Amino acid sequence: MKKIFMFEGDFPMSDLLRVGLIGCGNVVSYGHKPALTTLPDAQLVALADITPARRQIGKTWFGMNDADLYADYQDVIARDDVDAVAITVPQQFRRQIVLDALAAGKHVLSEKPLATVPAVAAEMIHAADAAGLTFGIVHNYHYLPEYRQIKNLIDNGTIGQLRVLTMHYLGVIDNPGAAEYQSDWRHTLAAGGGVLMDMIHAVYLAEWLFGAPPQQVMAFVDAPTYAARHPQVEDLALVQIAFPTGYATIHMGWGQGVGGVDASGSEGHLRMRYNQYQTSGFNQPAELYTVRNWERTDHPLDNLPTHMDNIARSFTQLWQEFHSAIREHRAPLASAAAGGRALETALAAYQSGVTGQVVTLPLQSTNPVFQKGIDGLADVQAWAQSRTQSAGIFGLK
Ligand SMILES: NC(=O)c1ccc[n+]([C@@H]2O[C@H](COP(=O)([O-])OP(=O)(O)OC[C@H]3O[C@@H](n4cnc5c(N)ncnc54)[C@H](O)[C@@H]3O)[C@@H](O)[C@H]2O)c1
Repeated sequence: MKKIFMFEGDFPMSDLLRVGLIGCGNVVSYGHKPALTTLPDAQLVALADITPARRQIGKTWFGMNDADLYADYQDVIARDDVDAVAITVPQQFRRQIVLDALAAGKHVLSEKPLATVPAVAAEMIHAADAAGLTFGIVHNYHYLPEYRQIKNLIDNGTIGQLRVLTMHYLGVIDNPGAAEYQSDWRHTLAAGGGVLMDMIHAVYLAEWLFGAPPQQVMAFVDAPTYAARHPQVEDLALVQIAFPTGYATIHMGWGQGVGGVDASGSEGHLRMRYNQYQTSGFNQPAELYTVRNWERTDHPLDNLPTHMDNIARSFTQLWQEFHSAIREHRAPLASAAAGGRALETALAAYQSGVTGQVVTLPLQSTNPVFQKGIDGLADVQAWAQSRTQSAGIFGLK
């Protein structure tokens, strides 16, 4: 019996989406595997991974034939029986794979972050638009039960108009990547950033909860946690983002710090906390309440039996919505364009850490950070007191 987590929207389920998977690492094990092995209208037909051991793992997970396993992604996108590809390699390798997949007429679902460089993100989005293909991103935290409930509470006016959103992400667990590949790629310059880039979930969620793109960013960005091992990227980012109707603060760090969400509105406030005092993505929500006129209302939580069930459901619902977007010839809820804005916001935070200035969004196309991502930080004027620069991260001296 297939266990299916249906999305509330009750999408029509008729045609089969034939999927090619490019990259078979950890995110596939707990995210894409549960989705693609349970949805009745999606089926994995081909898989590419450059690491032989990962291909064998994928073969077992999906019950595939050797003939459907490839070392080279080109063999996946060359297949006529592939309608869409999921690109689940580390972000620094995304550009060429996405452009080749689009050129071959495939719809694309990209893992987050969309890219490491905004100019590359813009190039890929333009290519998808020009080809009339659906280009989605795995912003799966939209589908975690706590965030769906927070979104509903805010949109229903339960706390009035959202003014200040505080995303506590200081308990991010520094899980390594797949051991058969390069388990510490997240800590390298090639990843395009550190913990904020990796947990960019908080950034796109802030935009979603405010319902409008961010306009200004200021931040402290530092690396105190891994200082002794000469870190290449940040492990702490304290970010403030201005939206048209309010402000978000994102406190992001690998470690054992505070997790959860607080939101203050014109008529009240909201608080969400996790089991074992953890952070989004690492445990189930334990508590969600709103306060209005100084009276507390607790909201029941839509948890599945385990945290990993919640995670699996988030990917399954995201795949369902992506498939519906293909059928309906529209952008998915988790669109590549939103991924591009989240990427710019994270990089704007890094730039603010270097310059000590507020950075305006969208980034100008002439901004070296737009053109080169973190490599462009060497070309902006650093503030003499910049802790980002003195941490020696992002290749800064
Ligand atoms: N949405 C989420 O919640 C979530 C969670 C974890 C990771 N991710 C994202 O997914 C991506 C992968 O992360 P991961 O944790 O699975 O990494 P990982 O290191 O566990 O796996 C990466 C896989 O990609 C393969 N690979 C690398 N280059 C390749 C290429 N050119 N062609 C084919 N295969 C290639 C590797 O062999 C490896 O199997 C990252 O962008 C990460 O940010 C998203």
